[in-house]
Amino acid sequence: MIVGIDKIAFFTSPYYIDMTDLANARGEDPNKYLIGIGQQKQSVIPPTQDVVTLAANAADEILDEADKQAIDMVIFGTESGIDQSKSAAIYVQSLLGISKSARSFEIKQACYGATAGIQMAFDHVTQHPKSKVLVLAADIARYGSNTPGEVTQGGGAVAMLITAQPDILALDGQSAFYSDDIMDFWRPAYRREALVDGHYSTDVYIDFFNRTWNQYQAQTNRHLDDFKAIAFHLPFTKMGLKALRSVVHDHPSAVGLLEQFEFSRQYNALVGNLYTGSLYLSLLSLLANSDDLKPGDRIGLFSYGSGAQGEFYSGKIIADLQSQKLAEPVTHLLNNRIKLTISEYEKMYQQGLPMNGRDYEFDITKDHNRFVLAGRKANRRLYKDTKNRI
Ligand code: CAA
Repeated sequence: MIVGIDKIAFFTSPYYIDMTDLANARGEDPNKYLIGIGQQKQSVIPPTQDVVTLAANAADEILDEADKQAIDMVIFGTESGIDQSKSAAIYVQSLLGISKSARSFEIKQACYGATAGIQMAFDHVTQHPKSKVLVLAADIARYGSNTPGEVTQGGGAVAMLITAQPDILALDGQSAFYSDDIMDFWRPAYRREALVDGHYSTDVYIDFFNRTWNQYQAQTNRHLDDFKAIAFHLPFTKMGLKALRSVVHDHPSAVGLLEQFEFSRQYNALVGNLYTGSLYLSLLSLLANSDDLKPGDRIGLFSYGSGAQGEFYSGKIIADLQSQKLAEPVTHLLNNRIKLTISEYEKMYQQGLPMNGRDYEFDITKDHNRFVLAGRKANRRLYKDTKNRI
């Protein structure tokens, strides 16, 4: 039986900043950001969107009523969760009207959470072929103004439906993983911004990629020439390029893999980091933009979550992959964003629910998305479904 990704959708904020503007404001050469880091634009998340609304808006694009009744598991991967106890999955399940006979829960391991979710979904559907599992990957990446990490901020959500007989990617079911207690990036519960040892984190990422890739090759006897493309977790797009270069060298497959990598980073370069969703935005970017994917082509996926957990796994393209259908909503979303000046972004970056728990109401008239965060009352977040006026 084949199990894998049947549907996939992406959502991000309608606001962005341009990396040339940011470089100029920070006294850096724009080419450092555009080429050295590999980012062109960065999503800026307004206070009326959080990981719940980002994920609900993404999933809303792909789920029909039959899916909502058939889903028996909702898994939410995030490191920017909105509650220390209650999972973001329960909120999304309720907002979207997904069957109450589902298991709903959240997974945290920095940028790796959604990959754990996909593996769990794969096992569940393999055991129960009629099941459908909704895997949500949503984050808002925050390092702070005027920090080296600022150019690698961003945010958004990817929603994926994992089923038997999928329409997009059939997972091979083999994977290699590696973990170690590493302090490269973390966020204590009292902080809104991540703490990061930036250069160390890039070294650990490459080390974990090499380890899991070597382990995967030993397990499966598959090598570079068995792959059409490798999609990476992209905290910034140069990171994936560095990792890919560390294994391709002058291998005959190098040119093809480097060409495909360019398709896989197109969307990420325009959005920035969305932590656990970044690998899946990169996969979507590859599927939607590559001019050369054929049924049966094998795609590698490298997932990395600081702290640290790495995993390399793979899947094959399904026969009737409809690239155009995947590309249209993303192109529409990204082409209709509003550009902020750097001072407008700095102001928006400071907004959010007060940390002291007091009641608060946002002006939601400027947020035209279906699901919005309207504020907080009596320590309860107020979500609005603007379509159904809840
Ligand atoms: N033109 C072209 N390139 C230029 C340039 C110019 N004028 N000026 C500099 N560059 C290049 C540099 O040579 C360098 O390239 P290489 O890495 O290929 O050598 C690149 O631009 C970046 O320059 P620096 O290393 O000097 O940049 P920095 O010290 O300001 O910080 C960073 C870069 C460490 C990535 C920082 O942005 C950061 O800390 N980011 C957050 C951490 C992160 O994303 N880590 C990734 C791994 S961890 C992970 O994946 C989990 C996660 O999501 C966070």
